[in-house]
Amino acid sequence: MKVDVLLGLQWGDEGKGKIVDVLTPKYDVITRFQGGPNAGHTLEFNNIKQVLHTIPSGIFRENKINIIGNGVVIDPIVFKKEIEGLRKIGVELSKNLYISKKAHLILPTHRLLDAASEEQKGITKIGSTLKGIGPTYKDKIGREGLRVGDLTENFNSKYQERIDNHKSLLTDYFRYDYKSILADCEKEWFEGVEVLKSFQFIDSEHFLNDLLNENRSVLAEGAQGTMLDIDFGSYPFVTSSNTICAGACTGLGLAPQKIGRVYGIFKAYCTRVGMGPFPTELHDETGKKLRDAGNEYGSTTGRPRRCGWLDLVALKYSVMLNGVTELIMMKADVLDSFDSIKVCVGYEIKGEVVEHFPFELSDDVKPVYVELSGWKTDLSNIKNQNEFPKELSKYISFIEDEMGIPVTIASVGPNREQTIHLD
Ligand code: GDP
Ligand code: IMO
Ligand code: MG
Repeated sequence: MKVDVLLGLQWGDEGKGKIVDVLTPKYDVITRFQGGPNAGHTLEFNNIKQVLHTIPSGIFRENKINIIGNGVVIDPIVFKKEIEGLRKIGVELSKNLYISKKAHLILPTHRLLDAASEEQKGITKIGSTLKGIGPTYKDKIGREGLRVGDLTENFNSKYQERIDNHKSLLTDYFRYDYKSILADCEKEWFEGVEVLKSFQFIDSEHFLNDLLNENRSVLAEGAQGTMLDIDFGSYPFVTSSNTICAGACTGLGLAPQKIGRVYGIFKAYCTRVGMGPFPTELHDETGKKLRDAGNEYGSTTGRPRRCGWLDLVALKYSVMLNGVTELIMMKADVLDSFDSIKVCVGYEIKGEVVEHFPFELSDDVKPVYVELSGWKTDLSNIKNQNEFPKELSKYISFIEDEMGIPVTIASVGPNREQTIHLD
């Protein structure tokens, strides 16, 4: 068997959590391969609304194996809260959740370093989620990180060495006053570690490859989105991991030929949270209308998301980087009340129109739009494709033609049920 990968094609928050939950019945195993608590994946079903940060979105379906892969970074504090929240609503976890020994730990000081770095950058800040993601991956690449598998008897001395090093950085380099908060954070952190230790730590690369050899089906769940990828996103306004399909290979220990289908998720428009370029961003009433209709506020930080029209130049780039085999279009219902809908099909840069994604998205990049008719129909109760207004079918066909791959699912609301599988 091969591993299917589901990932975001835009700037994150495309609706990955919802669709992983929808697809989970088809799979035996769901696994996260990168990112950490910067992710906020929302699931809605049976009057439950749950936001997951570290735990794979397959956790609500019975008898599925959920794995947190080696490419993920884990904050025990967030993990503990997540576990407690799930247990409160009766989700069975102890038998269904496994954690890679090679996943790196977000230490309490990583979060402080994230805050200190953003503060120091001032107006040039990244607008990070302040979850300690950048500093943790920095330590991983710098060969100074601590991993889940290090949580053994002699963990404390390794931990203290790292914390002392971070304290010097905070004081001497950032001039950041951490003293009043660190003690409380550390207490909470070690309580989180105890919860973490109650789960099975595994060599997930062996575990997964063995499952594949036994013909078990696996879905890998991406976090963030392709435009936030450390190599190909709008650097430096990106996250610190490879969010693209290749990240599933390194983040799980899979050979490239083990990748099967690649589901690429995009919103019928675009959003971005945090700083950085966004060519189709709308600063006007239309942008506000998208935000209101789409309830575009961050699932992790609550920050208002920046909104704009669908950008096919960026989408095509994402499809190429990931080898997307099928597209999933989210939040079509958010466009229900628009008379017309614009789609960016090119960038005008210094008087020349280009269709390929440039090195940098500077202020010189002006989107070139085509305008399509809106459907002016409430999609939220639609049950199948036959009920689609013709303008929606045209919108989807236009995207398929531009991308050269099919849209196989259209989502018309946040609930599990509001999902239309297309022929
Ligand atoms: P993720 O990070 O990719 O999992 O996405 P988020 O959960 O951060 O953001 C997606 C938001 O849109 C969540 O609040 C979802 O409940 C919601 N959502 C998902 N699909 C749809 C949809 O088709 N229509 C509407 N209106 N909301 C949706
Ligand atoms: P999901 O998985 C949207 C953004 C932050 C910031 C940049 C770097 O829910 O789609 P970081 O904390 O990673 O160092 O922040 O990346 N960002 C996200 N934006 N969805 C996410 O995750 C994000 N994770 C990080 O806003 O601009
Ligand atoms: Mg999200």
